[in-house]
Amino acid sequence: MPDTITLEVARYSPERDAAPYFERHEVPCRKEWVVLDALNYIKDQRDGSLSYRWSCRMGICGSCGMMVNGEPKLTCATFLTSYAQEGKPVRVEPLRYFPVVRDLVVEITDFMRKLKKAKPWLMRREEKPLAEGEYLQTPEQLDEFKQFSMCINCLLCYAACPVVGLDPLFVGPAALALAQRYNKDSRDQGGSERTDLLSDHEGIWGCTFVGECTQACPKHVDPAGAIQQYKLRAAGEWFRKFLMPWGTRP
Ligand code: SF4
Ligand code: FES
Repeated sequence: MPDTITLEVARYSPERDAAPYFERHEVPCRKEWVVLDALNYIKDQRDGSLSYRWSCRMGICGSCGMMVNGEPKLTCATFLTSYAQEGKPVRVEPLRYFPVVRDLVVEITDFMRKLKKAKPWLMRREEKPLAEGEYLQTPEQLDEFKQFSMCINCLLCYAACPVVGLDPLFVGPAALALAQRYNKDSRDQGGSERTDLLSDHEGIWGCTFVGECTQACPKHVDPAGAIQQYKLRAAGEWFRKFLMPWGTRP
């Protein structure tokens, strides 16, 4: 394994630069180092103005997502050694399809708006009295949605999804997977409301099941699978409403 590796890091300051450009840095290639360590090295040793997000350094906070050699990755979970044998520079860019605030930092306000549209919280038509205690679940009921609840909002699935690139209005994989997480929760009663909000071409029907989101997801959430389940649910609800127009309850 070589002692050093070259990083090509995207730089961009919208108020100063006409377009993004790349800076080359040779950094130590240690076997325990991830791409984030290399960025921290550059920031500490070479240029303190390099901007990027990170926090936990353990694949939990979801803030360190970037494009590494064209693929969306958590930089705290992507080892430099995976690229060392290629003998080429490792290119680090901001997440694809998001506006750039500076260098490797992207603007995620649009995602937050889409997430809100999916209503990823428990909704109930009526609450039982506190005296009756909590809403209990069996392990089987938990298993129904647990996988979809592992999302850390890292947005790698958005950077992987060609539909997000083509249609900026598409709600996108993580928000739809989180909507399905609550649809499948036995304590939730808001499934019909979510389906009404998300059953259009900007919602579940926008997904063409390319499956890149599931490939990119570092937490094995399987957003593509969640969206296909959601489509089946929406089709079932549509038929129920068609056959029983006087009303249904989810
Ligand atoms: S579904 Fe996976 S890739 Fe998408 S935001 Fe959640 S954890 Fe990240
Ligand atoms: S720094 Fe938190 S997920 Fe990478």
